[in-house]
Amino acid sequence: MSLFHLPPIWMAPMAGEAASAALVAAVSAGGGFGQLGAAYLAPARIGEIAADIRARTSQPFGINLFCPQPWQRDDAALDAYLARLAVWHAELGLAAPARPAQFEEDFEAQLAATIAAQPAAISFVMGDPGAARVAALKAQGFTVLGTATQVSEGLALQASGVDAVIAQGFEAGGHRGGFLGSAEGALIGTMALVPQLVDALDIPVIAAGGIADARGVAAAQALGASAATVGTAFLMVDECPLSSAYRTALLAARDADSTLTRAFSGRLARGVANRLTRELDGVALPDFPQPNAASRPLRQAAAKAGQADFISLWAGQALPLSRATGTAAELVSALAKGWRA
Ligand SMILES: Cc1cc2nc3c(=O)[nH]c(=O)nc-3n(C[C@H](O)[C@H](O)[C@H](O)COP(=O)(O)O)c2cc1C
Repeated sequence: MSLFHLPPIWMAPMAGEAASAALVAAVSAGGGFGQLGAAYLAPARIGEIAADIRARTSQPFGINLFCPQPWQRDDAALDAYLARLAVWHAELGLAAPARPAQFEEDFEAQLAATIAAQPAAISFVMGDPGAARVAALKAQGFTVLGTATQVSEGLALQASGVDAVIAQGFEAGGHRGGFLGSAEGALIGTMALVPQLVDALDIPVIAAGGIADARGVAAAQALGASAATVGTAFLMVDECPLSSAYRTALLAARDADSTLTRAFSGRLARGVANRLTRELDGVALPDFPQPNAASRPLRQAAAKAGQADFISLWAGQALPLSRATGTAAELVSALAKGWRA
């Protein structure tokens, strides 16, 4: 089954440094489906970036949000985390870290801004947007997408009425996008997850995780996927405004340097191991998004200072396959060679 109105090569939404109008527009203009990772953007910025994308291309693009997740404020655990960060703040010559004034953006305001921006598709991760919300978005003409890391999540999203489910395999860079049970309980590889979701669901399944070249795209199609989503490989293209420390660290990393960590955000995510992931290994942390907000000043200062040890180097297991340089359009074309019309 396919989503005929969208092309088969999708760029994953990537919140953070890669949430760039130039990158999303270049993917869509290049024949792929570009998506904006808007989770960390203030509502007004979502509108501005979407307008910038539209000024650069008339091709369709998507916007992605994190579903709100329940979390427990824990000032004692947050202060213990801040005390750990303080050591690295001092190393970089920064003032001691403080409790953040704001932990996350207002989801309802982000969604309102996303609707106003009129993307072709709105995708959700880390939760089930629910039947009422999905129906309302579909009635307004949006294609609505959900993210699953196990079959039960795919079934829940299908029951809520989403148009398609993104199957995020264990290989994927960035945060684990699941929402049922523990993240560690749903570490299923793309090769195993995609066909199980294809069998279980009546709606299209989009493969994500570890796809970095035409071979991966062909494999995703062979497993029954209706499109292939690629994240990490797009971090390396010319239009991606990655800090040079992040880029250099990705270029140097080998397959076995990939790790799953909660150290930066409190939520399980895949990236390249560095001092921060190693030194906080096994340390109890407050719930996401408290560490995410608390570590932001350190991460941003480290990116500026060229110090990759304190940057969240999100990337997937196929990272070493993603070293080709060139434009987003060139990468879309190279990936599309693996997809049979
Ligand atoms: C830097 C980075 C940021 C990401 N941010 C998001 C995000 O904001 N929303 C989301 O749904 N997925 C996010 N992901 C996960 C991707 O959607 C996708 O599952 C993953 O990139 C696919 O695996 P790959 O990196 O091996 O291609 C991110 C991934 C990376 C590498």
